[in-house]
Amino acid sequence: MSDKNNSLGFDTVCIRGGHTPESNRAHLTPIYASSTYTFDSAEQSIATFKGDEKGYIYSRWGNPTISEAEEKIALLEAYGLTDKDGAPLKLKAILHASGMAAICTMLMANIKAGQKIITHFSLYGGTHELVEKILPDLGVAATIVDFHDLNKVEDAIKADKTIRLMHIETPANPTLQCIDLEALSALGKKYGLIVCVDNTFATPYLQQPFKYNVDYVMHSTTKFLNGHGTAIGGVVVGRDLDKMNTSVTKMHRLLGGNSNAFEAFLLTNGLRTFGLRMERHCSNAQQVANYLECNKGVAHVNYLGLTSHPDHAMCLKQMKHAGAMLSFELKGGFDAGVKFINQLKLCTNAVSLGTCDTLVSHPASTTHVSVAREQRLAFGITDGLIRMSVGIENVADILNDLEQAVG
Ligand SMILES: Cc1ncc(COP(=O)(O)O)c(C=O)c1O
Repeated sequence: MSDKNNSLGFDTVCIRGGHTPESNRAHLTPIYASSTYTFDSAEQSIATFKGDEKGYIYSRWGNPTISEAEEKIALLEAYGLTDKDGAPLKLKAILHASGMAAICTMLMANIKAGQKIITHFSLYGGTHELVEKILPDLGVAATIVDFHDLNKVEDAIKADKTIRLMHIETPANPTLQCIDLEALSALGKKYGLIVCVDNTFATPYLQQPFKYNVDYVMHSTTKFLNGHGTAIGGVVVGRDLDKMNTSVTKMHRLLGGNSNAFEAFLLTNGLRTFGLRMERHCSNAQQVANYLECNKGVAHVNYLGLTSHPDHAMCLKQMKHAGAMLSFELKGGFDAGVKFINQLKLCTNAVSLGTCDTLVSHPASTTHVSVAREQRLAFGITDGLIRMSVGIENVADILNDLEQAVG
């Protein structure tokens, strides 16, 4: 299926990629609600356990419904890319219970006590906490540098031979910072680091980190890939197939952060419309950002598709479009943020992102309410900041709602 898929259009891969015909001729891959699988003979079980015969054994290790979602995501991340010999790039994806489970598996498979990670500010909060509060107890410290400053990154790597892995998240929350994947990956490779990218915000529709030779891409599939807010999930995608089949697979199986057939089914179903949804998400977001930039109640808009964003040029270089995430600062500060949320009639007041409906949140009064104000401001989370994941409703309806809520 992989070779054939390389000549197909992106949306066709979203719909058909990874599908294997069913023995019972079901049109769509069913939800395989089975924890284990049977063998015809002792010989067959021996061959399957040895890996000589392809087959499922136990659903923590693999399941046909999960395999379809994994294969589809691997094809989308590799879409149109080639390996060093010019052949279609082959990637392997392993689905997890959540984005955090995927990140944990990748880290645990690649880093040992005494080694360090190099990463940047403004990571997703959960990843930041993992790096700052959990990994140090396991003997893995982090060097945190401004990844906009390549000289500083190189100096930090040169100064510390224990740095083993570079973790990049771009665009990043909440100011939509966009950092140079090509340059950072080249730098990481120059010093023999494992380079991994959290591609949740951009998705393979907008940005394909494997183009820059990175080793791993992770996603919270909970977001745009699922697209409907129906399931939590995560994925690790890797280019070193041997490593994916050995150490990463082992870590996935033993840490137990596996996905399940029902949530994988929901993900596959969402992925069928992924390309189409992203087109609408992006065009709506650009129109919303243009509107907000001219609104008198708004002090500032952070959207990569606006020329006013400091990383607009970087976005044009490495992303197909600026995406569906934006944030904006209301002039009235904290109280204006609370009032705005209460005034909304259409947009949904919720955290998370990437669903069909527009999601809006006021971090200062919700996700960051317990963070000291100075620290929150240092992260770019100002009192009146509103985060928006622009949905795929008719854009006029989103704009009307914003108009009446900003006031
Ligand atoms: C960029 C990013 N990475 C990872 C995660 C964690 O994903 P999950 O909530 O599916 O564990 C999130 C969640 O919001 C995220 O935004």
